Amino acid sequence: MATEYDLIIVNGVVVTESETNEYDIAVKDEKVAKVAPRGELRDAKAARTIDAEGGYVMPGGVDAHVHLDEPPLFGKGSTADNYETGSRSAVCGGTTTMVTFAPQKKTEDSLLDTLRDTHTRAKDTCYIDYSFHVIVGNPSPNALSEFKTLREEGISSLKIYMTYEALQLHDGQILDVLLEARNQQITTMIHAENGQVIDWMTAQLEKRKLFAPKYHGPSHPPMAEIEATHRAICLSEFMDTPILIVHVSTPSSAAQIKSAQDRGLPIYAETCPQYLFLTKKDLDQPGFEGAKCVCSPPPRESEADCDAIWTGLENGTFTVLSSDHCPFRYNDNVTGKQTCITDEYPQGHFKYIPNGCPGIETRLALTLSADRLNVQKFVEVTSSNPAKLYGLWPRKGALVEGESDADINIWYPPGKMKEYTLTNEMLHHNVDYTPFEGRNVKQWPRYTILRGKLVWDKDGGGLLGEKGYGRFIKRGASALAGPRKQGEWELPL
Ligand SMILES: *[C@@H]1O[C@H](CO)[C@@H](O)[C@H](O)[C@H]1NC(C)=O
Ligand SMILES: *[C@@H]1O[C@H](CO)[C@@H](O)[C@H](O)[C@H]1NC(C)=O
Repeated sequence: MATEYDLIIVNGVVVTESETNEYDIAVKDEKVAKVAPRGELRDAKAARTIDAEGGYVMPGGVDAHVHLDEPPLFGKGSTADNYETGSRSAVCGGTTTMVTFAPQKKTEDSLLDTLRDTHTRAKDTCYIDYSFHVIVGNPSPNALSEFKTLREEGISSLKIYMTYEALQLHDGQILDVLLEARNQQITTMIHAENGQVIDWMTAQLEKRKLFAPKYHGPSHPPMAEIEATHRAICLSEFMDTPILIVHVSTPSSAAQIKSAQDRGLPIYAETCPQYLFLTKKDLDQPGFEGAKCVCSPPPRESEADCDAIWTGLENGTFTVLSSDHCPFRYNDNVTGKQTCITDEYPQGHFKYIPNGCPGIETRLALTLSADRLNVQKFVEVTSSNPAKLYGLWPRKGALVEGESDADINIWYPPGKMKEYTLTNEMLHHNVDYTPFEGRNVKQWPRYTILRGKLVWDKDGGGLLGEKGYGRFIKRGASALAGPRKQGEWELPL
């Protein structure tokens, strides 16, 4: 008797990180059940068939850098998206798995409490599958002792900061974290900017009464990132443990990362669409408009910088392309960007502008539309590699028979989608702007499937998924940093 499938996708061009082929895909019980040459599933029975009409069929997007529903870090600003609106926006742009942050404050002693609290925020509200990276704000003996339990709870990555008063760790604390991360095979993500350089530059600008949004740029000079990147690489090499440097924005930092990789060090790097599409021109807008593009690190000097970041994606320097979705409303003086407008600073002050831009929904379409990356490379950096790096592979980021969840994007066939200009009204986040307003978009996911269920049909009702369908996914160790033998994790003295 022929197997009865839940769904069959025919006439697609299947693209994974390793191949591009005319395959049909059959889905059963939330999993990819069969991947077969086009036409071979002709006689198979299925509850539903989708004709891809020659469009690309890819694993769903995995966005491993997402801030949702976090407590305020920058004065009065607070995250505009919660787990419901953030994951809704994600699925409407083809992202089917996200890894968000569970932030421990400096004043807190426990990471497990932080994790529990974040679970409560996410539970039963997500449209897509999710996991968390813990942010270690206070590597107290108690917090460090909890790393083992974190692993048992399915958390295999954490993030630390070399800047921001509220989160910055000094080098000794970073080593404490790296040592315990090494013991527990946890991947450490590092925000590499030198906090003291930023504070010093900020004071220089304040002395000259320069407060406009555009001065966010010079307050975060490339050298702050270059120095911290170098230091992070040294600390990782010293401890012989893998790190991922998040949101790399400068060509010199990328070059240092590349040379560390060429020496065989487990240094991974992430970049984001902000550093491919925005420059300091976007910060230098009339009035307060530039605040829309205030994020850290800031958009850099010129197109040449963006070009070098593209090159880094093409040549493997960057392991992953994430959104760093960190949403604040623009026209909002209670929780958003305009909280920095006060009696003392009637035009605002760059130092108090909440840092971050929304982008969870636009990451895939903008990047694919730019037509710069080979399509397999596109899948690799937006889906497969984040899954591998963070212990989700091959359940996510792949289309492996019997192993991968049926998380699938079907794109428009050539010529089928009319090019259009991106506007914020098209998006589904809870933010009143997009930093990519007015960009040309040539592609968008036409259908998105999550664990076998059609959750997005652009021309047939848009969002079809449901709040609460998304599940917490327990993660294992990273598949990228080579496995070590017993004893190899001991620190040699
Ligand atoms: C790869 O990209 C990085 C980052 O832009 C760059 O520094 C490096 O020179 C490139 N390497 C090659 C071989 O193109
Ligand atoms: C916020 O904006 C509203 C409307 O423009 C204004 O009435 C109010 O005074 C502002 N509040 C603050 C704290 O600036």
